[in-house]
Amino acid sequence: MRYRRAIKAFDPAKPLDQADFDFIVEAARLSPSSHGLEPWHLWHIASPDLRAKLVEQAKINPPQGADASHLVVITAKTAQGIDPDGEYLGHVATTVQQQPEDVIAQRRVMFKGFLTDRMGVYGDPAAMFGYTCRQAYIALGNMLTAAAMIGVDSCPIEGMDHAAATAVLAEAGVIDPVYDAVAVAAVFGYRSEDPKRPQTRRPATEVLHTI
Ligand SMILES: Cc1cc2nc3c(=O)[nH]c(=O)nc-3n(C[C@H](O)[C@H](O)[C@H](O)COP(=O)(O)O)c2cc1C
Repeated sequence: MRYRRAIKAFDPAKPLDQADFDFIVEAARLSPSSHGLEPWHLWHIASPDLRAKLVEQAKINPPQGADASHLVVITAKTAQGIDPDGEYLGHVATTVQQQPEDVIAQRRVMFKGFLTDRMGVYGDPAAMFGYTCRQAYIALGNMLTAAAMIGVDSCPIEGMDHAAATAVLAEAGVIDPVYDAVAVAAVFGYRSEDPKRPQTRRPATEVLHTI
């Protein structure tokens, strides 16, 4: 946790090993999510053209966006993408979780009730997207920690025009923005210089309150 820093300067000549990248992706894939719905996708932007478009049009923080070995954009399900009556819930419940049809029908009703009564987000597209983004950020956090465990540097990136990033991916035909939109991004690689400032955190006594 101390080794992991939000690295600003990456060495463009130092690529990540495929096995290391796989390890980082596995940390995201195995992340927990509300109702086990994994409402995220990871987009490893391996195409130089697409990466350049994202950096330019979505104004991804230039040094990290352009220089780090791997850029991963994380999309989260929109309100329509995570709709309790929608296709995605059916896909996860059937194909991934192997649940029978009658259980899935009950689940749809229960999930809608959960979003309405417990989370208070149903019917509000921005709040629904916030709900799915929160899950995506757990995957993000696990990727950052997993990377640090194997000595890989990273930087999470919210510093971008999210609408433009979604538009770039939609124009490239990789997402349908009705169902998926950009939540956050991250870069992975190796630092070319250490962070200028030391890592600072509030003391544990200010963070943890035993009441
Ligand atoms: C969700 C999230 C988004 C962030 N977005 C950016 C960003 O766009 N650009 C950047 O340089 N740092 C970004 N950061 C890094 C934070 O500024 C950094 O984690 C914080 O200052 C603490 O420093 P440390 O990570 O080096 O300990 C982001 C961090 C998080 C968790």
